[in-house]
Amino acid sequence: MKYDVKNVKLAPAGKKRILWAEKQMDVLRQISARFAKQKPLKGVKMAACLHVTAETANLMRTLKAGGASVVLCASNPLSTQDEVAASLVKDFGIPVFARNNIDRKGYYRHLNSALDTKPNLSMDDGADLVSLLHTKRKDLVKHIFGGTEETTTGVIRLKALAEQKKLLYPIVAVNDAQTKHFFDNRYGTGQSTLDGIIRATNILLAGKTVVVAGYGWCGRGFALKAKAMGAKVIVTEVEAVKALEAVMDGFEVKTMLQAASVGDIFCTLTGDIHVIRKEHFAKMKNNAVVCNSGHFDVELDLVGLKKISKKVETVRPFVQAYTLKNGRAVNVLAEGRLINLASAEGHPASVMDMSFANQSLAAEFVVKNYKHLEKRVYDVTQKTDDYIATAKLKAMGVSIDKLTAEQQKYLTSWEMGT
Ligand code: ADE
Repeated sequence: MKYDVKNVKLAPAGKKRILWAEKQMDVLRQISARFAKQKPLKGVKMAACLHVTAETANLMRTLKAGGASVVLCASNPLSTQDEVAASLVKDFGIPVFARNNIDRKGYYRHLNSALDTKPNLSMDDGADLVSLLHTKRKDLVKHIFGGTEETTTGVIRLKALAEQKKLLYPIVAVNDAQTKHFFDNRYGTGQSTLDGIIRATNILLAGKTVVVAGYGWCGRGFALKAKAMGAKVIVTEVEAVKALEAVMDGFEVKTMLQAASVGDIFCTLTGDIHVIRKEHFAKMKNNAVVCNSGHFDVELDLVGLKKISKKVETVRPFVQAYTLKNGRAVNVLAEGRLINLASAEGHPASVMDMSFANQSLAAEFVVKNYKHLEKRVYDVTQKTDDYIATAKLKAMGVSIDKLTAEQQKYLTSWEMGT
């Protein structure tokens, strides 16, 4: 078996992490048990490009239980948990190409190694495999049945491809499932971003002014958690409706230029490029903390920041202090890479449970239906969302009401009025 991990001797610690996470992944365990019996992915070769975490390891085990042969590479170099990668190789016989902190060249070497297995299915978090399969590795598309995509940023890239009629195979937008983005993006990113900032800085949030760039599901999750910790929260937005929602959710809304001089902690969660630029950095208070929790490390213009700085030093792990020519310091966390996976452990297992239940069922859907699917982006079905939500509620011991026959009739009739 070919693989490339930091050190297979780390496997025992990785296995403990994987089994700990599994306890919180009730829906995935349920799917795994069914997959082990029915083998819906039998004989299918899969390449997954995801954050190499304990939660992802449990997804890989589920796909393998379903009969697939899987290979895993990292969707971000800073998020790889080396001990988890080691355990997947040693304890679970799953090839992994991922090392924490690998450079760009090594990152792409790993993606290419995963593609060398000639997969039938691509599973992405950010669409990097899809991107390679549509450019340098186009020759491999003939083996592909379809794919799945985990994140907002990836779905945006796929929709752009489909819009230009250049998408070469069907892909399920797992991110757009309700049981994914309502929970993973909101509560997962909310908590893990806060966790990442706290682990990197040990800063007190109570009484601080936190500037949240972007009021999508991730931004609103983080704003909610920061508020709950006693911070004053300012939201910046480019979309009028989202800005209005933020105002009516009780947050101050300002432009980044207005917020720059009053914020203590800044976090971007937009999926867009250069959201905080040199004109913003130049206005910040001394010792402001700036980070990103969006998928790619493009949201902070660090080249621009460097141009207006006279010194950069690492002052703690994950914290680089830029001393500006104006004499003030700006602390950038994790070099602008996604803070929740760089300095913390990503979203907790309980929320990844639903995201990865969606991934498993989306893979099963593609394998069952690919012969009839078009080259476009597919949504997860309502039935799948309902199944996952129902299973999660059951695992949490929560019961809900059922419609009575009278209520059912009322909801399907138009005759009854006032
Ligand atoms: N994305 C965010 N958190 C994650 C986690 N814990 N595992 C995999 N992908 C993630």
